Amino acid sequence: MSTLRAAERVSRFGTTIFAEISALAVRLGAVNLGQGFPDFAGPSWVKEAATTAIAADMNQYAPYQGIPRLREAIAATWSAQGRGEIDPQREVTVASGATEVLFGAIQALLNPGDEAIVFEPFYDAYVPHVTMAGGLPRLVRLYPPQSATGSWWFDPQELRAAFTPRTRLLLLNTPHNPTGKVFTRPELALIAQLCCEHDVLLLSDEVYDQILLDGATHLSIATLPGMWERTLTINSIGKTFSVTGWKVGYAIGPAELNDALRAAHQWITFATATPLQAAAAVALEGALSNGYYQQLRSEYAERYTLLREILEQAGLPTLRTEGSYFIMADIAQTGFDSDAAFCRWLVSEVGVAAIPPSAFYADPATVPLLARFCFAKRPETLRAAGTRLAAMQLPQS
Ligand SMILES: Cc1ncc(COP(=O)(O)O)c(C=O)c1O
Repeated sequence: MSTLRAAERVSRFGTTIFAEISALAVRLGAVNLGQGFPDFAGPSWVKEAATTAIAADMNQYAPYQGIPRLREAIAATWSAQGRGEIDPQREVTVASGATEVLFGAIQALLNPGDEAIVFEPFYDAYVPHVTMAGGLPRLVRLYPPQSATGSWWFDPQELRAAFTPRTRLLLLNTPHNPTGKVFTRPELALIAQLCCEHDVLLLSDEVYDQILLDGATHLSIATLPGMWERTLTINSIGKTFSVTGWKVGYAIGPAELNDALRAAHQWITFATATPLQAAAAVALEGALSNGYYQQLRSEYAERYTLLREILEQAGLPTLRTEGSYFIMADIAQTGFDSDAAFCRWLVSEVGVAAIPPSAFYADPATVPLLARFCFAKRPETLRAAGTRLAAMQLPQS
C-alpha cells in the first residue's frame, strides 16, 4: 500500500479545469485564450533591468520584507497615484506573486473557524487559501449585468447577511477576475461601512488596477475613511508589466498587518527573487514618468475591441469589461447545458481555448452560461482565434 497519502487539507483539490483546458490546448494546437497571461513580451527596458541585475551579481537572498529600492518604488507609486504617503520600511512587503501575498495574509489573519467573505465568482485561489487556514468561506453572489451597458452587481442585503460574529476577513478583487467588473465608489463605501461596523479586515486584490477599459476608474478601498488601518492592498508586477512568470507581488497597508504578513512570509518562501525585485523597482520607477501606464491601457483597449468584435461576429454576445484582461461571452444560445462542456468542445472542435467560469464558483450547478476569453494576446493571436471562431459550426445547428 502506498504511504503517499495527501493530507485532508489538500485531498479534495484535484486537478483544475484550467489545467485540463491548457493541456488540451497544447496537445491540439489550439489558440489559447484560456489562462490569463500575455503572449507578448514585457517591456525591453524592464527585461534589461533583470539581466543587468543578474550580471551585477544580485543573486543572493533578498531581505525578507523585499529589497529597499523596490519598497521605495512601491511607496512612490502609491503616492503618485494620489493614494497617500506611506512608510516603505514598515508598510510595504514583497512576496512571490500576489498569490503568495494572499496565501500568507490569509494564514496570518485567519484563525481556524473564522469566516471570510468572498464574492462569487472568485479568483480560484481564494477559497483553497481560506480552507487551508482552517477558515470558512462565506460566499456573496455577483450577478451578471441586466443590460448590454450594465455592470455585474451584488445584492446589499445578501452582503449584509454574510457578516456574522465569526467574520474576520473580506476578500475583495477589483478590477475583478473573471467578470471584468470594477467596483464603484458606492459599492466600496458599503463594503467599507460593513467592515468598519463588524470590525472586519480586508484583503483588496488590485492586480489589474492599471488595466481599465471603457472609461472605468479604479478606487483603492484602503483610501476610504476608516479603511487604511484594516486593509492590505495587493498588487503584482507580473500583471502590470506583462511578466507573469516573475511572480513578484506586494502588499501595502498598516505596519501591524504587514508585521502579520511578514510573520507568515518568513516561513513560506522567506524571500523573493533578488534580481527580479531589482528589475521590478526599475519598472515602477520608470513607469512614474515614461507614459507606460497610458500606453498599456491604450494597447489593451485595442485588444479588447478586437476580441469583442471577433466574439460578437461569431455569434457569441459579450458582456462589458470595465477592467482586467478578460471578456465574458454569453453561450446561452449555443445549445450546451454547461460552460465546461462548451469549453471542452470549443478547444477540441474549433481549436480555441477559453475557460468555463464554473471554475470560479463553489457550486457549478448554479452558474450562468458564459465563457471567459483572455485578450492579453498579440493581435495576430486574436485574429487566428477569429478565423477559427468565424468557421464555428455549433453541433446542434
Ligand atoms: C485576481 C488575481 N489575483 C492574483 C493573481 C495572481 O497574481 P500573481 O501571478 O502575481 O501571483 C491573479 C492571476 O491570474 C489574478 O487574476
